[in-house]
Amino acid sequence: MSGFNALRELPEGPGYGPGDVFVLFGELFARGYANGLVEQAKERGMTLIGATVGRRDKDNVLRALDPDELAQAEANLGGKILNYPLWAGFDMDAPTGGVSPADMIAKVKPTEWQDFKLDWDQIKAAQEAGINRFRTSLTQMVSELSGLIPKGANVLFAHTMAGGIPKAKVFLVLINRAVKGSGERYLPSVDLWEHSDLGHLAALNYDAITADTFLELLNSTGGIREQVAQGGGSCSYSGYGYHGTEILVGGKYQWQTYSPYLPGWSKKRLEDHARQAFKQGIKACIYNCPEIRTNSSDLFSGVELPLYPLLSALIKEEGSNFAYLQTQICQDKLVDEETIENLLNKVDAFHTHPLMQPYYADFDGWPKHNTREMAEYMLEQSDLIMALNRDKKDLVTDHLSNLVLESSGRIMFKDITNPKAPVQWLGHDIIAKDLNGAH
Ligand SMILES: NC(=O)c1ccc[n+]([C@@H]2O[C@H](COP(=O)([O-])OP(=O)(O)OC[C@H]3O[C@@H](n4cnc5c(N)ncnc54)[C@H](O)[C@@H]3O)[C@@H](O)[C@H]2O)c1
Repeated sequence: MSGFNALRELPEGPGYGPGDVFVLFGELFARGYANGLVEQAKERGMTLIGATVGRRDKDNVLRALDPDELAQAEANLGGKILNYPLWAGFDMDAPTGGVSPADMIAKVKPTEWQDFKLDWDQIKAAQEAGINRFRTSLTQMVSELSGLIPKGANVLFAHTMAGGIPKAKVFLVLINRAVKGSGERYLPSVDLWEHSDLGHLAALNYDAITADTFLELLNSTGGIREQVAQGGGSCSYSGYGYHGTEILVGGKYQWQTYSPYLPGWSKKRLEDHARQAFKQGIKACIYNCPEIRTNSSDLFSGVELPLYPLLSALIKEEGSNFAYLQTQICQDKLVDEETIENLLNKVDAFHTHPLMQPYYADFDGWPKHNTREMAEYMLEQSDLIMALNRDKKDLVTDHLSNLVLESSGRIMFKDITNPKAPVQWLGHDIIAKDLNGAH
């Protein structure tokens, strides 16, 4: 497992305090990972500053937030939003006199996607238009931000941006078939991703949003790093990665991964950006975080299967009342005749199934595409285990996701003031240790 670097000990970290500044680079959604960091920033009395991706009107033109939207976003964050639209990616950007990639593919039918060919010169022009637009907004945002940082403050930049599926009907159909399809509807993810122009376009857009926005943030805030250092403070940069997670399987911690994780190549690129920055002495770290259910991950059915064994990890890591209480809370969410013990046995049987082993045994070959047998098995198990919940709006995975995002926020907050490496994994072991210690 070359490059695997799990954070094993809870960081002591000096952390942050009143007067320090927390900058959220991405928007805050109700269930998103960023809530864990925002909570920590509030608890520590930091000044919160946020960004926006902007909004699009009917004509698809990107704009800043209107006064109502701005007031709502600021109330949601509990801080000032710098109102410059930072929508990343280039799928909706048209170069002067040209068409946007989204318009180029708007009429592609789900039956003809494999033979559809893009004009790559036009795509390159759209890429340039997209990055120029993003940089213009970012420069304005950074200029305003610079005036808001008090002398002596430390600054934490928290990157959260991820995404990349080009906005077109055909993609909704294809991605759904690749990650949720079974039987005749199954589409091998490798066919979409590696053997079609549409897949190549999506991969580039994923890079632009999921990985390169982190680099743009680093590059655009060099002046702020100097300003902060002159005042005696320091800047840190955190980012959320995904690169599989260690969870309890058969009573032992084992690395496993959701497949096909199509943004995986971009997440590796994101890690590389942090490695480069770290080499230059910048405090930057990508924290590869566990699978949880959020607006963004809900598309990937089965991604929640590694989350359930957190209950076992809580007990293994010297769990006391808090750990047993979590099992009871989750038990109460199940239909009458079911038990958490049964549920965890089913999840363990999934993770030890021979179909999953080629994915779990090949860290160096990550990310991998799915097979029909594996996809069908994972989706079937995901549905069966979901069906054990009494109420679809109050799931075991909702509760566990909240625990993970709370804990990862706390761990990252302490570690990022002085990270020991540019890429670190948070497994269920450290999450469980943190939760048991904090409650
Ligand atoms: N959910 C998981 O299981 C999981 C696991 C590990 C890492 N992560 C990572 O955590 C981070 C937050 O994701 P989340 O799952 O909490 O979901 P989320 O939906 O709450 O967050 C997604 C973020 O991406 C931003 N975003 C989306 N499209 C964008 C675009 N075109 N331009 C700029 N920004 C854009 C949104 O503003 C938001 O801040 C992501 O980097 C994600 O990859 C998630």
